[in-house]
Amino acid sequence: MDLTQQSADELAGTAEAVRQTYDRLRGRNLALDMTRGKPGPDQLDLADGILTIVGAGETDGAGGDDYRNYGLLAGIPEARAFFADYMGVSAEEVVVGGNSSLNLMYDAISGAMLHGMPGGNASWNDQVKDGGPIKFICPVPGYDRHFAICERLGIEMITVDMTPDGPDMDAVEVLVADDASVKGIWCVPKYSNPSGEVYADAVVDRLAAMTVAAPDFRVIWDNAYAVHHLGDGPATVKNLLDACKQAGDADRVLMFGSTSKITHAGAGIAVLAASETNVADALKKLFYANIGFDKINQLRHLRFFGDQAGLLAHMDKQAALIGPKFAAVDAALEQHLGGKGIATWKKPKGGYFVSVDVLDGCAADVIRLAGEAGVKLTPAGSTWPHGNDPHDRNIRLAPTFPGIAEVEQAMEVFCACVEMACVAKLQGGAT
Ligand SMILES: Cc1ncc(COP(=O)(O)O)c(C=O)c1O
Repeated sequence: MDLTQQSADELAGTAEAVRQTYDRLRGRNLALDMTRGKPGPDQLDLADGILTIVGAGETDGAGGDDYRNYGLLAGIPEARAFFADYMGVSAEEVVVGGNSSLNLMYDAISGAMLHGMPGGNASWNDQVKDGGPIKFICPVPGYDRHFAICERLGIEMITVDMTPDGPDMDAVEVLVADDASVKGIWCVPKYSNPSGEVYADAVVDRLAAMTVAAPDFRVIWDNAYAVHHLGDGPATVKNLLDACKQAGDADRVLMFGSTSKITHAGAGIAVLAASETNVADALKKLFYANIGFDKINQLRHLRFFGDQAGLLAHMDKQAALIGPKFAAVDAALEQHLGGKGIATWKKPKGGYFVSVDVLDGCAADVIRLAGEAGVKLTPAGSTWPHGNDPHDRNIRLAPTFPGIAEVEQAMEVFCACVEMACVAKLQGGAT
């Protein structure tokens, strides 16, 4: 029954019924957290073998280098080769870093602000003095940490809508065509955060071939969820570096990835993949900050996976753990909100999130009500720049960390809160 079609009397009855449900659920005194996309402890357990796989006397590389010592800023050769395969590039096009790809992304963009990017004739800060501000295109909904980097560095964020195939490329092409202060776009090409889209080939081709006013423009290609499927095997996304090379602008893209959500989230391996020009530039900038990342951890990862097939087999085990949690989220949404006309949601095939849109003006209320009933959700607006969702409608659910029974309990509360907030809105009042 579509609640948006109910009469005032019917709505009053619905409101009373859902209020009773909410009070009953609140009486359970829950304390559940679905705020952040963290792996569950069982996922982390799967990788515990990595902790002991490299022992004393086993820390030399194939070439005889002692990996306990300083050096090899671009990563150990074995890891460069392994992650080259993972990212679909050559070993010379890879830097294997520390434990955080976000760190590499922050360094890339702050480095551009201070020292510029290949292709540009001045640092972005100096270009700000000439005209500024520096601008980035932000597909929405998107990842709050991307937006936080821009906010921190004073970069103006221009939003474009996500479509089922990736960012709205008609809008993107117009934005980049004439304005040289538009320096970049954030992209999470596979199982996008939060809405789960997989970029279509045509979008990849358009990103590679579009006319861009800024000679130092970069696509920040954050492939954080490259192998993170929920049971059907990883989706395929066209290789943007290859497409850029074909279009004659190999330097246009910086690709990132990490094993944060493959092995241990706090102790994974991060990767930058890009043209050799961009890799040389990144290493030149990194030189001042680091003498060499954790090579023992790089070695551990290689020994643990063996090869790409080993890594993929590991991700199948993860899918077996988290796939049912996503199925539980979808089942609850269907059961409690299906056909009611007050919410739409995505059915991702990978990644860490389920994105839900409720009636405009209701997301903050839903999150407040859930919090009061013991279910913490990602703050309203966090999928938009500056934490400001102009429609107040998008909510990001993160079901990986809690156990499945907790996910089910949290979803019952969430759905009651959506109904309560939306019915109040339809009645023209507040909860
Ligand atoms: C899209 C995206 N990029 C990057 C990260 C963080 O990656 P890392 O742990 O490698 O810094 C996350 C974590 O949630 C993410 O969702």
